[in-house]
Amino acid sequence: MKRILIINGPNLNMLGQREPAIYGTATLGDILQGVQSAFPALEIGHFQSNHEGALIDRIQAAMGESWDGLVINGGALTHYSIALRDALAMLAIPKIEVHLSHIFAREAFRQVSVLAPACNGMISGMGAYGYTLAVMALCNE
Ligand code: DQA
Repeated sequence: MKRILIINGPNLNMLGQREPAIYGTATLGDILQGVQSAFPALEIGHFQSNHEGALIDRIQAAMGESWDGLVINGGALTHYSIALRDALAMLAIPKIEVHLSHIFAREAFRQVSVLAPACNGMISGMGAYGYTLAVMALCNE
């Protein structure tokens, strides 16, 4: 059985209430449930934090666990957290970055991802379905 870890950064716990015109109406719980039901045979782990250090601690801990792949939506940290990027670079499993919104069609400051070079790929602008697409890609590894 494959084991996939999904990590979500700041403000993603507010999905459903947070700027629904941009991020949709699904809650984080709805999204995770959708992924699990799309892949009933997978073990899906999840961690969300609003704190950069907690996200880094979780990624470091994942180094000692047997995950087959990682899906990460770093939220705003995507655009400036070199520390999060360095943590991802240490984790030697396939990693896909996900964004609900299409970051390249938004403000200039969102059009840069410092995490992308530490990941194997990125899915941006597919809404909640992006998480399912990312897991699909990881299963294909
Ligand atoms: C986001 C895009 C980021 O720019 C923003 O800060 C988020 C969500 C997305 O999923 O579209 O928190 O990562």
